[in-house]
Amino acid sequence: MFDDQTHCAVVVGAQWGDEGKGKLVDVLAEQADFVVRYQGGANAGHTVVTGDSQFILRQIPSGILHPRATCVIGNGVVVDPVTLFSELDALTERGVATDGRMFVSNRAHLVLPFHKLLDAASEKSQGIGTTGKGIGPAYEDKIGRRGVRVGDLRDMGRVREFLEQRVARANRMLEMMHATERASLDEHVELLSGYAPRLNTLAADTGLLLHRALRAGKRILLEGAQGSLLDLDHGTYPFVTSSSTTAGGAAVGAGIGPTSIDGVLGVVKAYTTRVGNGPLPSAADPADDERLRKEGGEFGAVTGRPRRCGWFDATVVRYAVRVNGLTGLAVTKLDVLDEFERIPVCVGYELDGRQCEEFPDEVEQLERVKPIYEVLDGWRAPTTEARRLDDLPSAARAYLTRLEALAETPIRYVSVGTRRDQIIAVR
Ligand code: IMP
Repeated sequence: MFDDQTHCAVVVGAQWGDEGKGKLVDVLAEQADFVVRYQGGANAGHTVVTGDSQFILRQIPSGILHPRATCVIGNGVVVDPVTLFSELDALTERGVATDGRMFVSNRAHLVLPFHKLLDAASEKSQGIGTTGKGIGPAYEDKIGRRGVRVGDLRDMGRVREFLEQRVARANRMLEMMHATERASLDEHVELLSGYAPRLNTLAADTGLLLHRALRAGKRILLEGAQGSLLDLDHGTYPFVTSSSTTAGGAAVGAGIGPTSIDGVLGVVKAYTTRVGNGPLPSAADPADDERLRKEGGEFGAVTGRPRRCGWFDATVVRYAVRVNGLTGLAVTKLDVLDEFERIPVCVGYELDGRQCEEFPDEVEQLERVKPIYEVLDGWRAPTTEARRLDDLPSAARAYLTRLEALAETPIRYVSVGTRRDQIIAVR
């Protein structure tokens, strides 16, 4: 990914999340000086396997597992201090040194306990299928200009005043939503007073830090969370998350100019999954759905919910190529398809009797589309030991060639297992 031309690259999910970005970021972080999360919060669940250990990172960039990388939580992230510090402590316990390698933007907003209560209450009427981590309500407060930012913790007296108003407001809203629980001011004050000293030591003007790094020729990897189809603007609204998951969000959420970014890698599974509510046009029939979920271990890393499974959807990925300006693709979990006899690929949609070239902008239309499938031969052989494209069975190579042609974007990486070494870098 990084070379003489590429110093600042974004990795985004090009489907509905859970594409295996954690693994890709972990592999690419080896060449990076900085790894930056730029949106989302503890709703992410990036699974990274190193040797015999498995780490699930929700809030901390996956690059933390590489001792050389400095990790940044950018201004576009909503920070849950409880998750952040429990993750940091767990990493320390498992021998990962984090001191002096983690910075959190002063401008990042905090996710507070009342955001989680509001998330749960609004789920009852909206039914988005959120992760329950308070993400939507925290971004609502940010947009509504009433959020609490990391930098505010420098003055706990002021934070207490903020909290009085914010907790009272949250309780009024909970009452309106007929929720039984109420937020406690004391709990909020205690929580933030407890975390403030630790958070203050990590807090920095991270945009400036990254600007200086770029000027010094350092390599920066911007790690997206969730997927393009969950983007607040470009996703399957309202069944989306509340941040800009697409590559444009990387500049805003990291605090650097868009001209600094010189590569955008889209991560796609060799098939498709979705967790939470909303349409999945290429959903497999119940038997294949079950088989994909079992072979792929398709259960949410944050919530444990079973993911709905389906076939590779080229209309979705072409759309993601467009809205992100993808310069390459990484195809993950190819090995999950190893035993399938025939592999359908959704090459387009039919909508109300007509072929539909572009991804619909209305969720109601997306619910009505009929996928058009092309069925490719399976390879019925293990791919997990392949380290070069030539090591793959010819039907697996043909499958990848077809995906590349349909997506109109070159494949740069193919992942064939959870371990770091199970990856093919395509020259
Ligand atoms: P929220 O981000 O918790 O508000 O959830 C909004 C939608 O995004 C729900 O459909 C979630 O299931 C989905 N979502 C949020 N984070 C992830 C993720 O990391 N992977 C997959 N889906 C996610």
